[in-house]
Amino acid sequence: PRVAVVVVAAGSGTRLGAELPKAFVRLDGPTLLERSLYAVRGMRHAADAVLVVPAGRVEEASAIAVAVFGRPVSVVPGGATRQQSVAAGLAALADDVEVVLVHDAARALTPSRLFDAVVAAVAETGHGVIPGLPVSDTIKRVAADGTVHETVDRSALAAVQTPQGFPRDQLLAAYAAATTDETDDAGLIAAAGFAVTVVPGEALAFKITTPHDLQRAHDLIAPPSQ
Ligand code: C5P
Repeated sequence: PRVAVVVVAAGSGTRLGAELPKAFVRLDGPTLLERSLYAVRGMRHAADAVLVVPAGRVEEASAIAVAVFGRPVSVVPGGATRQQSVAAGLAALADDVEVVLVHDAARALTPSRLFDAVVAAVAETGHGVIPGLPVSDTIKRVAADGTVHETVDRSALAAVQTPQGFPRDQLLAAYAAATTDETDDAGLIAAAGFAVTVVPGEALAFKITTPHDLQRAHDLIAPPSQ
């Protein structure tokens, strides 16, 4: 199938404490956005890229994309929420794209093989596919005042990641029907009544949100020498 990856990079990065929008923060050289684009470029299944960036950074991101892919790609300004940013990216898809992956630029160390695994699973199942990892910590339900209520059965939980992949028609229908603001695309797909299944995620696909996450990413790239 013809595949497009919508890379959402329009978040402010407030929790990272940086002056720059998060995707434009450097991690040992390249920015988080560049590292995410390298992963798209490295896919075995060639894919279009659509970039969603802060309104003032469309030109800068276009130049970055040309440098990575060697050709121009669609770059559009994002919205106030992640969901609005994804919607902006979907509006820029080429007509004959059949499978759409949505990826957080903040998951900058996600290996190309995870993108390929999601594409393969969408092609095989004909429905939405999201990467997820088992939850290893004990999870408690906690009240606003800190009172601990109970342990949640973690065998029924998955910590989900991106890229999340969907048949284009299902994803567009889910966005057209959206009445809530969800934190991921599979949430909208489920709200629209479409099936979603989990495939094994990757530890490297963790989201860089806090300064600690950036440090962890740095440590993974550059392990201390002996
Ligand atoms: O804020 P958070 O880290 O959960 O955002 C996940 C991804 O969504 C990031 O890559 C961020 O750049 C993107 N995003 C966006 N537009 C927003 C908010 C977040 O593209 N308004």
